[in-house]
Amino acid sequence: MKQDSSELQAQVEALRTDARRELPQLKGLEACEGFRVRYLGRKGMITRLFELMKSLPPEARPAAGKLLNRAKRELEQALGERQQQIRLSSQAQQLEAEALDVTLPGRPVALGHLHLMSQTLREIYRIFARLGFQMERTREVESDEYNFQLLNIPPGHPARDMWSTFYTTRPGLLLRTHTSPGQIRVMRRYAPQPVRAILPGKCYRYEQVDATHEMQFYQVEGLAVGREITMAHLKGVLIEFVRQLFGQERRVELRASYFPFTEPSLEVAMDCIACGGRGCRICSGTGWLEILGSGMVHPVVLQNGGYDPDLFSGFAFGIGPERVAMLKYHIEDIRLFYSNDLRFTEQFG
Ligand code: DAH
Repeated sequence: MKQDSSELQAQVEALRTDARRELPQLKGLEACEGFRVRYLGRKGMITRLFELMKSLPPEARPAAGKLLNRAKRELEQALGERQQQIRLSSQAQQLEAEALDVTLPGRPVALGHLHLMSQTLREIYRIFARLGFQMERTREVESDEYNFQLLNIPPGHPARDMWSTFYTTRPGLLLRTHTSPGQIRVMRRYAPQPVRAILPGKCYRYEQVDATHEMQFYQVEGLAVGREITMAHLKGVLIEFVRQLFGQERRVELRASYFPFTEPSLEVAMDCIACGGRGCRICSGTGWLEILGSGMVHPVVLQNGGYDPDLFSGFAFGIGPERVAMLKYHIEDIRLFYSNDLRFTEQFG
């Protein structure tokens, strides 16, 4: 069949029109590929028109060839542009979908806080710092000698029965039952210089645990040794301590007591913070709360610490910070301190 070139021109025109209509409707790269195969592929429409061209009279072929080539380039270019558009808009869609709102307020970091015991200890440290006491570290694993003997508690002394002790498998080595052995260590560190220090730390007792007994607890030991230390100093320091911690209106009572390492020995009590002294459940109806033990350092203990008891004297005391916190914050069970129940600890943030 002979073709004439005006017919071919019309077909090219029709093809252009179709292509222009289809191109904007191609939704994805796959559709573009389909388009390419249909129009520009080896068996596509352009190829078919090139074949038709062969049936034109020879003189009409060059013009027809140009026309077809131009149409082919136009199509390739238009397709390329459409593909690029599709790529850009799908990238834009992806960015949109994955967008982060950087103006959202951040999630707050959960801040912890000091445990009630740490808070209480620090409060005690601050009070004694103001009173001129330095802080000394002492060890938790002690020898029988320091924990007992040098404190005037020889083997077989009935005072040993006050404490049930964690002994280790090494003979003579134990977990200290109180911070008082630190007194000897500190005296030996400073003698014959005077010293005024608190010795805070953990103690251990092999005890049945209940609402008022833990087998691990803190003590804050205090010690002052000098040439003219008297019971008046002890009184002044301890009354001041009680009032700074529990309120300036507190009344303080000093009672005779006994400890092997002090002579005389005292127990310090204050009027009940719950009832003001009338008597209630917290003070067992007595109106008074015992809060610490103390006394004048026993001459034998001074000597064991390296001081001449004829020239030096001193006072000492032992505070139970858990008990202090229990009174101050009305906590009825000492086990709450170390059972790691956040419902308890978070109340003191
Ligand atoms: N060490 C005693 C205890 O654990 C407490 C104590 C009492 C310490 C009198 C002292 C003191 O320094 O003078 O029960």
